[in-house]
Amino acid sequence: MTALNKDARIAVIGAGAMGAGIAQVAAQSGHQVLLLDNRPGAAAQAIDGIDRQLGKRVEKGKLSVEARAATITRLHAVEAIEALADCDLIIEAIVENLEVKRALFRQLEDICGEHCILASNTSSLSITSIAAQLKHPHRLLGLHFFNPAPIMALVEIVSGLASDPALAECLYDTAKAWGKKPVHTRSTPGFIVNRVARPFYAESLRLLQEGAADCPTLDALMRDAGGFAMGAFELTDLIGHDVNYAVTCSVFDAYYGDTRFLPSLIQKELVDAGRLGRKSGHGFYNYAQGAVRPQPAIVGSTQIVETCVVEGDLGIADPLISRLREHNVEVIRRDGQGVLRVGDAVLALSDGRLACQRAKEDGLRNLILLDLAFDYEKASRIAISCQADIEPTALEQGIALLQKAGFTVSQLSDSPALAVLRTVAMLANEAADALLQGVACAADIDLAMRAGVNYPQGPLAWADTIGLSHILKVLENLQAGYGEERYRPSLLLRRRVAEGRTFHD
Ligand SMILES: NC(=O)c1ccc[n+]([C@@H]2O[C@H](COP(=O)([O-])OP(=O)(O)OC[C@H]3O[C@@H](n4cnc5c(N)ncnc54)[C@H](O)[C@@H]3O)[C@@H](O)[C@H]2O)c1
Repeated sequence: MTALNKDARIAVIGAGAMGAGIAQVAAQSGHQVLLLDNRPGAAAQAIDGIDRQLGKRVEKGKLSVEARAATITRLHAVEAIEALADCDLIIEAIVENLEVKRALFRQLEDICGEHCILASNTSSLSITSIAAQLKHPHRLLGLHFFNPAPIMALVEIVSGLASDPALAECLYDTAKAWGKKPVHTRSTPGFIVNRVARPFYAESLRLLQEGAADCPTLDALMRDAGGFAMGAFELTDLIGHDVNYAVTCSVFDAYYGDTRFLPSLIQKELVDAGRLGRKSGHGFYNYAQGAVRPQPAIVGSTQIVETCVVEGDLGIADPLISRLREHNVEVIRRDGQGVLRVGDAVLALSDGRLACQRAKEDGLRNLILLDLAFDYEKASRIAISCQADIEPTALEQGIALLQKAGFTVSQLSDSPALAVLRTVAMLANEAADALLQGVACAADIDLAMRAGVNYPQGPLAWADTIGLSHILKVLENLQAGYGEERYRPSLLLRRRVAEGRTFHD
């Protein structure tokens, strides 16, 4: 089956933030779109709102006057559900409540033809459950847009137990024809994005709770070292803590309390205090007029270093060598266990053990651990941690070397797998479980995380680049260090390492 053609009549029910955006997308793609809301006048108001948005784009020269007018003439506010009788696709974007959605779809089945595809924009409810009481449950699927729908490219096409695969293909092709990046996913809690993204928030929240660093430092590391568009604290301030905390709780409950999805007490406290983020003027940061944004903590050194020794292979951190050379550091290479020596200091990429533990176990003095960077050649910042009894001069020499290579250096307390590495390892681990459980294919999981939450790389491809054996080691060490099930490596990760394969093989 191919995409619905332009003659197909679309209806959107619910003219709130999502419904209005979805209606706009469909109308811009050439469909006649009926918009219905149970609040009288809301649909017409939403169309006025779309017109104003399009007007701004015309003013900026991004849209022609004709295209604006054409889109608006295709949008029709209706006040009665019976008006949807002739529709070919009805997309529901009403209140997130199972019983209300079920009742609406039951009502729709009595009104529209048997060929009409029914779709829900639900973020957290099971498509299987919504469809359960329908006469024709095969025709109900999830069509999960991201906010704001006209801008965000990702659409998750969600299939429940009874959903017809041919209709899933039709919605996939239709979303593509609308200029979106669709992915297929099975109806499981959080689908792809709201499940796989949980560790992004959870690991930063945990590091904060453990006093590893403060919010601005962890946010800066995620951006400037990890390559993410925003750190977890600034992002949750933007999303709203009530919304982000509710999604975490819903995924946690849906997975029967699996501790990998454990909500954070710190975030709950913000919700309890009404500090919901930007929208309430205060979250992790203060948004009041005149409030001063705290700066990330950095460490500096006045030592002068000109030479270092690389023993063995630095793995994913190997591009550091050329970066150091470009900054006029002489790099001598020798065989060894993958460490970088400068003066009395030893630097090594974290493997998930504490610095104090690794120093003892590997017989290393003055050990400084390096965090992951998305791109060691270009990252402007890097995190380090070190054993508590490091000689101050050695620490300064290590910092000086990184400074000389052009990094701003932020030091975390001795925390397993630091910040970026533990986050990426946990994202990859969750993505691996989703892949193992057939929630989606590897390519779609990676695409969903790039297009839905703007990650610099899909977590599975990122883990492939880092090396799956290193990711496995990091997770095993995290699990041993914390003694918690939360960090247990996915069976699929173990299997791929044993088979010598990557996730994308
Ligand atoms: N806001 C997001 O970021 C986001 C992202 C993806 C998916 N979603 C999902 O989209 C849906 C809508 O979310 P939203 O943020 O647009 O909500 P919203 O509160 O902005 O809008 C919901 C609209 O639905 C109307 N409505 C409620 N019950 C109705 C009914 N029985 N019949 C007709 N209209 C009804 C309301 O009057 C309101 O205008 C939810 O299922 C939500 O989980 C939201």
